[in-house]
Formats: sequence, structure tokens, C-alpha cells
Amino acid sequence: MKTWVLYHSKGGNTKKISDAIAEELEDVLKSEQIPPAYPPENVALLFLGTGEYAGKPDPKMIEFIRTLNPNRVKNAAVFGTSGSGLATGKAISAVKELLKEKGISVVDESYSCKGKFFLFMNRNKPDANDIKGAKEFARKVYNGTKGT
Ligand SMILES: Cc1cc2nc3c(=O)[nH]c(=O)nc-3n(C[C@H](O)[C@H](O)[C@H](O)COP(=O)(O)O)c2cc1C
Repeated sequence: MKTWVLYHSKGGNTKKISDAIAEELEDVLKSEQIPPAYPPENVALLFLGTGEYAGKPDPKMIEFIRTLNPNRVKNAAVFGTSGSGLATGKAISAVKELLKEKGISVVDESYSCKGKFFLFMNRNKPDANDIKGAKEFARKVYNGTKGT
């Protein structure tokens, strides 16, 4: 059983968080943009990251979740970046809901931070503090789902 970190990132912000999560954990498959080269199999914990675009995840994210086999992904944890930076944001909530609809167990807690967009909005975000927060989240979720 393994941990995998996948994301969809148009502007690179969510990728930064995803890379930090993959770096923090030991037996983890690399951080990768969806769709991955081969479908998830025997995954104990899938970290799934999304940006928010006009109140939604990218259609590629929605499509990717549709292809997931709930017998091959035991737990999922969702993270993301957005203009608002809220973990209760629309894209994160939508991804969690879609995963649950697939019958995949989703960790309640999510991680989110602000991400820069349109040149001047949220400049310098995500920053070092956001990366630190993402790593703490990753560790907590990883320890919390171990052996479940
Ligand atoms: C076209 C576009 C639409 C966006 N719509 C929203 C939005 O509805 N709500 C929000 O909080 N942020 C919005 N943002 C900000 C992005 O969610 C933010 O920049 C995020 O970090 C993007 O992630 P990415 O760099 O991984 O693609 C939007 C950004 C762009 C470029």
C-alpha cells in the first residue's frame, strides 16, 4: 500500500504545495499532475490537490475523479490553493464531495492557502509559511490514516 500525491495546477501554485507534501513523507510516490501515467492502484492514501477557477475545480480534476476505482484508493485527503485561501472553498469542497460520491473515504481536514494570480493578486503566495503548513498537514493526515 502506498501514498500518492496528485494535483491539477494551471498556474503552479498547487504544484508547489503538492511537491512539499511529497517531500515531507517517506514512502510516497512523486507529486504528479493529473492524469498520471497509470491509474492509482493499491493506494492507501491519496493526496489530491486542486486550484479554484471561477468557483470550481478544473474539468480535468472532475474527470479524473470519475475514473478512480474505489477498491484501489482507500483514503483521500484534499488540498488546494485559491484566491481566498479557504479550506472550505468551493473547489476543495467539490473535490471532497466527488470523492465521497465515488465511495472513497475522505479525511475531514483539508489544507488550503492563497495562490497568486493575475500578476498582482496574492503576490509571493504560497510562501514559506504555507509550505510549512502543508507539510504539517501531510504528516498529521499520514499518521492519522496509517493502519486504517
Ligand atoms: C481564471 C481564474 C479564475 C479564478 N477563479 C477563482 C475563484 O473563483 N475563487 C478563488 O478563490 N480564486 C480564484 N482564482 C485564483 C486561483 O484559484 C489561484 O490563483 C490558485 O492558486 C490557482 O492554482 P494553480 O496556480 O495551481 O492553478 C482564479 C484564478 C484564475 C487564473
